[in-house]
Amino acid sequence: MPRQIAIEDPPGPPEAPPADPAPRRDPGPITLKTLRRMAERGEPFACLTAADATTARWLARAGVHLLLMPDSAAETVLGFDRTIFMPLDLSIVLTAAVKRGAPDVVVMGDMPFLSYQTSDEEAIRNAGRYLTEGHADIVKMEMDASFAPMVAKMARAGIPVCAHVGLKPQHVLKAGGYVAAGRTAEDARRVVADAVALEQAGAVMLLVEAVPDEVTARILEETSVPLIGIGAGTACHGQILVVQDLLGMTDHPPRFAEAVAQLGPAIQEAGAKWVQRVGSRNIGGSRYTMSAGESERLARENGR
Ligand code: KIV
Repeated sequence: MPRQIAIEDPPGPPEAPPADPAPRRDPGPITLKTLRRMAERGEPFACLTAADATTARWLARAGVHLLLMPDSAAETVLGFDRTIFMPLDLSIVLTAAVKRGAPDVVVMGDMPFLSYQTSDEEAIRNAGRYLTEGHADIVKMEMDASFAPMVAKMARAGIPVCAHVGLKPQHVLKAGGYVAAGRTAEDARRVVADAVALEQAGAVMLLVEAVPDEVTARILEETSVPLIGIGAGTACHGQILVVQDLLGMTDHPPRFAEAVAQLGPAIQEAGAKWVQRVGSRNIGGSRYTMSAGESERLARENGR
């Protein structure tokens, strides 16, 4: 997978295991209000990406609170080498698939490159499509403070917005790669200022990607909406990973993504077993049968 954060220095020490890793679940559907309450109570909520109804169904059964239909599906599902290739219409269709698979969790649509940057009017229409056609509960956009007026217009229209700050994968061409954000005092101030401005404009959630813990701490101090982190330390209210990274299906995962399963090798092994079975005409399962009478009749009709 191309989504690898540039490593400018050796990885820090591994995280200490949490005292109680099991997230608690309120009964009933999870809503943005549920997540807000969890954040207020200091209970971490778990988020993952999903791009199909089946995966969404299993992740919801696992207790995941929020599913993002990500623009990184351009890489993981469509095989491109960058997220900017995610088509808007397909993203909306897949967001709806995720919601059908997991109707009781919060589903977030991820607005692709150039679906919100060209004009506020186009952005609002496209964001609205995620709610009406994609059945999303909230839309996410990669933004800096200059998008605050657009977020305010979306808030006025009743569109819940999650502002993605820090490393912005839609900007990798400009940035020269997947480079962590906020590693100098000046850049850290900029990331925090983006988060503050976008919350003030009306964003109801923030997501920060690939920043040092100090930046996360400042964002938490200066904002009040739930903050989801990816490669941003343990202090965030929610944590998200790309599901293929978590499941061990990514060839070169980013440094912050630790796999908890090895589905890649498991899929390879299952595929190899199938190849072997087909080769030896041992395809398993149970066969369809004909009654003896029908079988004889067919044989007679065929002149045997
Ligand atoms: O598209 C993506 O994978 C994301 C991450 C933050 C999960 O936006």
